[in-house]
Amino acid sequence: MSSASRALRRAVPLLRCPLCAEPLTSVEAVPSGPGTSGPITGVRCDSGHAFDRARQGHLTLFGPRGRRFVGDTADQVLSRERVLGSGVLDPLATLLGRVAGEAIGRAHPADRGAGPVVLEAGAGTGFYLERVLSTLRGDRGGDDSGSGGRRGEGGAAAPLGIGTEISVAAARRLARADADIAALVADTWDGLPVADDSVDVVQVVFAPRNAAEFARVLGPGGVLVVAGPGPGHLEPLRSHAGMLTPEAGKAGRLEAGLAGSFSPGAAHVVDFTAQVPGSVAVDLALMGPSGVHLDRGGLEQRLGGGDREVRVHLEVRTFHPVRSAQ
Ligand SMILES: C[S@@+](CC[C@H](N)C(=O)[O-])C[C@H]1O[C@@H](n2cnc3c(N)ncnc32)[C@H](O)[C@@H]1O
Ligand SMILES: [Zn+2]
Repeated sequence: MSSASRALRRAVPLLRCPLCAEPLTSVEAVPSGPGTSGPITGVRCDSGHAFDRARQGHLTLFGPRGRRFVGDTADQVLSRERVLGSGVLDPLATLLGRVAGEAIGRAHPADRGAGPVVLEAGAGTGFYLERVLSTLRGDRGGDDSGSGGRRGEGGAAAPLGIGTEISVAAARRLARADADIAALVADTWDGLPVADDSVDVVQVVFAPRNAAEFARVLGPGGVLVVAGPGPGHLEPLRSHAGMLTPEAGKAGRLEAGLAGSFSPGAAHVVDFTAQVPGSVAVDLALMGPSGVHLDRGGLEQRLGGGDREVRVHLEVRTFHPVRSAQ
């Protein structure tokens, strides 16, 4: 069985039909030999709703409204992949690993049978989710994960990542980002196809937030981790490239948007200035929301030669679900 199939097999008991909210069970191909299970080819619920798994490994779980938009384009995804591969955003990945480790240390005792579950909504290529899982497993020796030592040896307590994405180009990469990631194509605005109280950490990095759904899927003691830009993020590149500027007062709006479902917890900041090669500067401009308006040829002429200075200013905030009284 492929590793992507194994992660999906672990995730299926946590999934819910996006059309009727009933549990889903896996549909499997014929096993290759006695005592083995065949790869998962899809899932179905008892009401007969069926969803296919793509050859590339992701499972598409759209609700009644289906796909309403395409999300990031293949070009944006490629730009993001090159930027993330350059290492310039590694400090954010390290911080997210530490924050998830601390959250899970509290929410998920190491002696609980199954491993912790981290869901990233709008997970892109799976870069940050992979880093978080590898921190939780203890793969990354240098990280102070706070997760209480190496997990996942012997399989029982290995963490499970569930990444959701609306972009097929991103989901294809997400499906092969890590052996412990199950990749779902789903629209965050239409709800998460995941059972109540089934997740320890929901992580959202520069992607849409659905507060009610995040609160519903988080178990007792679960934590929502939200990463986004701080003031001056990507300057002076942002101005030189003509990128959109994030609206001021984002932190206040973030809290207001989550109020009612979440109370704020700890806040962390990553803030440094880096020199990046011109090609990375171009990809930084093209990978975000401005990417669809900007012209690569023009950017390469203006920014492509030599190194460029860029400020990386990111805020990572944690939130705790507010449980309504029964
Ligand atoms: C700025 S990218 C961030 C990707 C990833 N979190 C990262 O930081 O590398 C935003 C991602 O959210 C996805 N997205 C946008 N709207 C979405 C929605 N309604 N449901 C699920 N994913 C969505 C996009 O396709 C894109 O991959
Ligand atoms: Zn159904």
